[in-house]
Amino acid sequence: MYLPILRRYSKFRLLCVIPILLLILITITVFHRRAHTEIVRFSPLEEGIPELIHTINKEYVPLIHQPFTLSLIRGIIIFYPHDQENSFLSELFWLFRSWIEMMKDEPPSWRTDLVIYTGVFTSNLQQLGCIFNRIRIDRKERPQCRVFPYKRVHLRNVSDKIDTDDHLFQQFDLERSILLKTYLQTYEYVDSINIIAECYISFAMYDYILRTDIDVFLTRYFGRFVPFNGTLLVGRGGYSTPFNTARLRRIAANMNWLYANITNIGSTWYGPPRLAQRIANFSLKAMVHLSTNEFTEPERQRKLGILLWPDWYYGVLLLYSCELAINHLKLSENIDLGLAYTLLDQSTTDRDQYDMEKNNRLHLHSWHTLEKFSKFEFKAGKYNRIHPRKFMKDTSALGYAMRMALESRLMSHVGLKAELMNAKK
Ligand SMILES: *[C@@H]1O[C@H](CO)[C@@H](O)[C@H](O)[C@H]1NC(C)=O
Ligand SMILES: *[C@@H]1O[C@H](CO)[C@@H](O)[C@H](O)[C@H]1NC(C)=O
Ligand SMILES: *[C@@H]1O[C@H](CO)[C@@H](O)[C@H](O)[C@H]1NC(C)=O
Ligand SMILES: *[C@@H]1O[C@H](CO)[C@@H](O)[C@H](O)[C@H]1NC(C)=O
Repeated sequence: MYLPILRRYSKFRLLCVIPILLLILITITVFHRRAHTEIVRFSPLEEGIPELIHTINKEYVPLIHQPFTLSLIRGIIIFYPHDQENSFLSELFWLFRSWIEMMKDEPPSWRTDLVIYTGVFTSNLQQLGCIFNRIRIDRKERPQCRVFPYKRVHLRNVSDKIDTDDHLFQQFDLERSILLKTYLQTYEYVDSINIIAECYISFAMYDYILRTDIDVFLTRYFGRFVPFNGTLLVGRGGYSTPFNTARLRRIAANMNWLYANITNIGSTWYGPPRLAQRIANFSLKAMVHLSTNEFTEPERQRKLGILLWPDWYYGVLLLYSCELAINHLKLSENIDLGLAYTLLDQSTTDRDQYDMEKNNRLHLHSWHTLEKFSKFEFKAGKYNRIHPRKFMKDTSALGYAMRMALESRLMSHVGLKAELMNAKK
């Protein structure tokens, strides 16, 4: 009906062209906003962590940005102990909830999968709508929860042949597997690093991966930002003391490894998959070395409890090992590393309404605390009578964690699955 008019009157044509040009202009300005393309700089220093002071170095300042790119894929990578679902399902629920919340700020064409390594595809995982043993082959496919079978180190029988039908996307280094089985029998956290070393094929396609624990929350800022230019960002830990720093420096020398004096490295990594696998490989070597040479049998058997924390504690063997690996690779291979002490592994107890936004906190981690938000209090049902609505307008880290956790509890499998289906319409 309009077309003949357009053809006849150039004035009409002009009238049509102007709004289209305007639309293009608006799109460009919206997507090219300063905030979207600017590289954000953060000081890795935080008040109250004096031991970090000697590690400040311009070289390690974490840079994040929002690239102006249409296609970007990321994987959130976790190890999920299926035989301890009682304790971990509620954490998985709130991580799942925050994963969907994060997508509200994510550019529409980006895709972020939740990638879970576990022994059994449990009915809980199935009810959440997760898919089994299927890697991402299409960059445009909607975000998925992907479950891959993984056999825990302590359950391995080195004389068994691995079931290759099931473990399609795993590369076994038999020799290493035997070493781990022999020397890290009692260290249950070895699997959370070993998945990065062994299961590379299942996450190699992602531009960035986030290796993290389950008791964490992705924030809306995670939806916007990725590490700049192939850097791997590490979060913030709280295990370093002058004693163990000196000891780890000495151990590095024993191992013929270099040590760059980077301490208090958190358990979360955010960066390119290949670099993550390199660090995981070295961390496993360090784990075997530490476990056999630097801990006694009663310590390995956990007979001392937390008596030696924080100076020298078997429970955080993984963190000591990663510290050794990262320090060595920084100096020996000059890996691109950012100390994201103010971006990843952030506290869930902060009440400041402006903090998350001002400091672009990407990721919260529930520490050992009974203060709100506490994972212990939440799991003990202490917050059950609080309605998540109460935190609708609360923009603090505490409010966000409370709302995500409480909502995930009320939504359960069905609600979470439905939200995920609607997330990238
Ligand atoms: C390992 O497998 C072999 C043969 O498959 C079996 O004889 C042995 O008992 C197994 N060992 C353990 C610890 O399961
Ligand atoms: C980004 O990485 C490339 C290749 O590693 C390097 O040549 C370039 O200088 C880097 N850019 C910045 C701004 O660091
Ligand atoms: C690390 O700290 C020690 C002791 O303070 C110092 O001797 C060494 O040179 C430092 N190493 C690097 C790579 O900065
Ligand atoms: C990590 O170790 C595995 C098994 O030994 C090896 O295939 C892989 O190439 C290593 N990855 C890197 C990045 O060094």
